[in-house]
Amino acid sequence: MNTLTFLAIEIKNLYFSYGAEQILTNVNCKISVGSYVGIVGHNGSGKSTLLKLILGILKPNKGTVSIFGEDIAKKIEWNKIGYVSQKAGIATSHIPITVEEVIKMERVTNQAVDEALTSVDMLDTKHKLLRELSGGQQQRVFIARALVKKPQLLILDEPTVGVDVKTQNTFYNLLSRLNIEQKITLLLVSHDLHTISHKVKTVIQLDRKAYPYNMTTCSVNHIHETNATNN
Ligand SMILES: Nc1ncnc2c1ncn2[C@@H]1O[C@H](COP(=O)(O)OP(=O)(O)OP(=O)(O)O)[C@@H](O)[C@H]1O
Ligand SMILES: [Mg+2]
Repeated sequence: MNTLTFLAIEIKNLYFSYGAEQILTNVNCKISVGSYVGIVGHNGSGKSTLLKLILGILKPNKGTVSIFGEDIAKKIEWNKIGYVSQKAGIATSHIPITVEEVIKMERVTNQAVDEALTSVDMLDTKHKLLRELSGGQQQRVFIARALVKKPQLLILDEPTVGVDVKTQNTFYNLLSRLNIEQKITLLLVSHDLHTISHKVKTVIQLDRKAYPYNMTTCSVNHIHETNATNN
């Protein structure tokens, strides 16, 4: 079997700038299928930008990203990828839309909607208005939407901002379950190194400063890996 098929994400020589502002320089990274990886870094270090490059929402100045062995510049298999953006909640917070309707945006069957909501323990809110749920409950609905097509890779940008510690724990338990039981590869962005270093299997630190770093699976000017158990 081609070794590439064991990689969920492979980034090679990636460079990106917004105009003159260089954000990412020579990012090289391999994330194996089944990994649970956290990306940390201070505000503005380029975490969301890196996720958008991985998802093909932004185009690199140089370099390539492959997901499950496919160069995303040629083809993106969206049915394999679930994404919850940092601003997922803001886009829908004023619209009188129900939880069920949020999930149905993905054009899936009623049964798939129920299964996705059940997996995040939110089936009982199906007919409620999204805006009437708490921040943590809304996050779970967005995760259900990202899960409804049964992705093999789930990418989450700051999913626990504004969520209390108890709900955060429930949420991280859910992610661990998805990773272990459903073998979903998880890539999670957070600015809270302390919390996620206890939850994920591997942490990638992304920063503009020079760090000493372990180059086992990731080598970047601005990234270092604090824990190399990447599987
Ligand atoms: N659309 C844009 N146009 C120009 N510059 C941008 C744009 N989006 C982000 N930037 C800049 O790129 C840098 C990285 O932004 P990014 O959103 O990736 O950071 P982040 O690590 O996700 O930060 P945060 O923790 O605040 O979410 C910042 O300096 C930011 O100002
Ligand atoms: Mg961000």
